[in-house]
Amino acid sequence: MQVQISPTGAVTGSISLPGDKSISHRYAMLAAIAEGTTEIANYSTGVDCHSTLGCLRALGIPVVVDGTSVRIEGRGMQGPSTPSAQLDAGNSGSTIRMLSGILAAQPFMSRIAGDESLARRPMARIMQPLREMGASISARDGKFPPLEIKGAMLRGIDYTLPVPSAQVKTSILFAGLYADGETVVREPVRSRDHSEIALRQFGADISVDRRVITVRGGSRLKACELVTPSDLSSAAFFIVAALLIPGSRISIRGVGLNPTRATLLDVLVGMGANLRLANVEQKGGELMGEIIAEYAPIRGGAIEKDVTAALIDEIPVLAVLGASSEEGLTVRDAAELRIKETDRIATVVDNLRRMGVNAEPLPDGLVIPGKQKFRAAVFDSFGDHRIAMAFAVAALAADGSSTIEHADAASVSFPEFYETLKQVTR
Ligand code: S3P
Repeated sequence: MQVQISPTGAVTGSISLPGDKSISHRYAMLAAIAEGTTEIANYSTGVDCHSTLGCLRALGIPVVVDGTSVRIEGRGMQGPSTPSAQLDAGNSGSTIRMLSGILAAQPFMSRIAGDESLARRPMARIMQPLREMGASISARDGKFPPLEIKGAMLRGIDYTLPVPSAQVKTSILFAGLYADGETVVREPVRSRDHSEIALRQFGADISVDRRVITVRGGSRLKACELVTPSDLSSAAFFIVAALLIPGSRISIRGVGLNPTRATLLDVLVGMGANLRLANVEQKGGELMGEIIAEYAPIRGGAIEKDVTAALIDEIPVLAVLGASSEEGLTVRDAAELRIKETDRIATVVDNLRRMGVNAEPLPDGLVIPGKQKFRAAVFDSFGDHRIAMAFAVAALAADGSSTIEHADAASVSFPEFYETLKQVTR
């Protein structure tokens, strides 16, 4: 599918966005192994989160979807049953990595795979700790999906994450729910803590001491009523659009503001952004509130080290903002970008160059000079949702009408993206 995007005079209005992708996956997976019926409001409409629901159904868990409300009838820790076919994680790295932690402890064999992009994503990072816990897992070429998982009685481990990854942390913690004794995960860099918060909501025996998380096996989870905050990573596209185009002012309601996700907002304010928060509240242990973004000139600067890891999903759209900023943007320590849904260093640079913007790729990042003008272009998402949306935002500031090819990739996290963009542009 192709989408045409015309330049806009300003980005204005008040919007709400679909539920957070990261949190939706976790709520659904934990609901499936809890006892009783969990109701989740504002569940993500993204295809990825529906891949998770599809896998849960294939494991015999009753799931009812009514718009953005999801009801999951958990059957307890041993509730999942032998799937009759291969589980399909679609495009979703979160589904395959996090669900593997649960599959590793089930008394049956399962196979889980996904699309072409997922087939290239590294799985050794979960296979190694899950094997240490006693699971038997094999993969194509030893490291890529499909994964074949033979569940086992697991034992607790003490594991230091070699790469900062909340997906890997979650996979181990979910397996730890079933393990004999304690499972300890040590994080060199703090990653998003939605799993820790959700585990507590469902009644798991978990403790967190700074960057050391301990879960004790053998507890039973209890169903809950939950509301998913809207996705800050989706809000990022609208925030950047407002910061890119003079005269803009946008308000986004009910957005997740978990501090392990909100580094984006701190970085933008540090670069001169005019952002305000209102109506901040806590639901199910997660902070949420309204973000009001108004146009202001952005200085640009450098993103590196722990900051890079904390806003890794927002780098494609920040790269667009960086090109129009006063000093440009340098991103370092972002080698993980190369193994996302696409090699996002390559796909960002390719699309920036299509609009006449200079950008230099580095092995672990990007250098983008500032004060550049955006030419209208034919962009390609390369099948990556965040690339489609980042360049739709860039197109708003171009000198004519642009085209996004394979624009439908946006539906992986945000099927309503183009409609919402229309609502706030003219
Ligand atoms: C996610 C963690 C991050 C992020 C991804 C979602 C999660 O990946 O990039 O979009 O929900 O835990 P890594 O765990 O690979 O860092």
